[in-house]
Amino acid sequence: MWGGRFAEGPAAVMREINASIPFDKRMWRQDIRGSQAHVAMLAKQGIVAGDDAKAIARGLEQVAAHYEANGVAEDLALEDIHMQTEARLADAIGPTAGRLHTARSRNDQVATDFRLWVRDAIDETSAALVAFQQALLIRAEEHAASVMPGFTHLQSAQPVTLGHHLMAYVEMMRRDTSRFADARHRMNLSPLGSAALAGTGFPVDRHATASALGFDGPTRNSLDAVSDRDFAIEYLTCAAQTALHLSRLAEEFVLWASQPFGFVSLSDQWSTGSSIMPQKRNPDAAELVRGHAGRITGCLVSLMVTMKGLPLAYSKDMQDDKPPVFECHDLLGLCLAAMTGMVESATFRTDRMRGLAESGYATATDLADWLVREAGVPFREAHHITGRAVARAEVLGVRLDQVPIDDLVAIDARIDDRVYGVLSVDASVASRTSFGGTAPDNVRAAIREAREALT
Ligand code: ARG
Repeated sequence: MWGGRFAEGPAAVMREINASIPFDKRMWRQDIRGSQAHVAMLAKQGIVAGDDAKAIARGLEQVAAHYEANGVAEDLALEDIHMQTEARLADAIGPTAGRLHTARSRNDQVATDFRLWVRDAIDETSAALVAFQQALLIRAEEHAASVMPGFTHLQSAQPVTLGHHLMAYVEMMRRDTSRFADARHRMNLSPLGSAALAGTGFPVDRHATASALGFDGPTRNSLDAVSDRDFAIEYLTCAAQTALHLSRLAEEFVLWASQPFGFVSLSDQWSTGSSIMPQKRNPDAAELVRGHAGRITGCLVSLMVTMKGLPLAYSKDMQDDKPPVFECHDLLGLCLAAMTGMVESATFRTDRMRGLAESGYATATDLADWLVREAGVPFREAHHITGRAVARAEVLGVRLDQVPIDDLVAIDARIDDRVYGVLSVDASVASRTSFGGTAPDNVRAAIREAREALT
């Protein structure tokens, strides 16, 4: 397609290093959509005759049907999906196909196709994020009042409810969803008509192609339009952030599924066995979600490093933008689907959670707060008294609410037996009614609010 000035063809390795068809064939739908919009505009503007435009539009439909039925051939000589489609179009309608590329370059074409692809990817991811949140909400509602130990430093800290814990992930997913929406909004401008880098002398209507392709308008600077890959980097940033969130829940599932915790038992569908140890139920999917966060972050770093220091406008380095984006999209789709499935089908061992919450002195803060509230003790002093009570419980080998009143009074005479009313884990979580706190009624209200925000 560009061989006019060359006497010899490219070396085999040149062909191989140059070709993007092995991966960019994945954008064939977006390439056809872009060409359809372009040729309709060329006809409307009188740049291409109406009959030719009709033939091209029909031919593009045939090419699309051919791709749909047979896939896209990986013809390295045709370099990329753009040349491939033009060649197939020529097969279908003859030399008129050559009029399609009027007032266009592969530089604005690829920038347009790739934006369309990333936009579709964001829409798919957003739907998966909704499904995941729905799964979390169902389980959170079921466990709005199920007590578990809350951790800081992975040390038993204060009792919380499992519903509250799961709702923390809903919050993360809500931020992720809004980040994707924000990126989608910013990227939704059409590069088409920027041509190679300088714009075109043909009387194109960039607003028309932009709106035909669902963009909010055309990009404002032709040099920027063909050299900008911020939209892909932003998509990868959003995806990496989401993957990072998923990896944290995945890590908790791995911990929780281990015997010392025993907080969760993953369904058979989401466990794997060991080829040597018959007792094993391994949380492989959770481990892979945790691991894939590394690969997804690698995709982001890969494209950022590719773009670093590139002069304006287009450089062939930029062809390397697609593999990391495609890889990221596939991995994130898998991670979201796997976490959704695991959350939906997990059995939460609430008896184990409660047992651990009760045994870890997790209501020590409640004792200190009681001393502040009921006996007017300054918090620092209450903290010290409580520390002694915990030490006493340790010596006696009992829970905090099982330390006899005489022992407590011996530590501080201001304590009386009303204190037992706050030392149970249920009383503790029920008391945490501050906005955003773990009290079961708060958790239920948070679930209602999140459900409404989803619809
Ligand atoms: N395959 C190329 C890419 O993905 C298309 C643009 C090529 N433009 C050019 N002037 N060689 O970036």
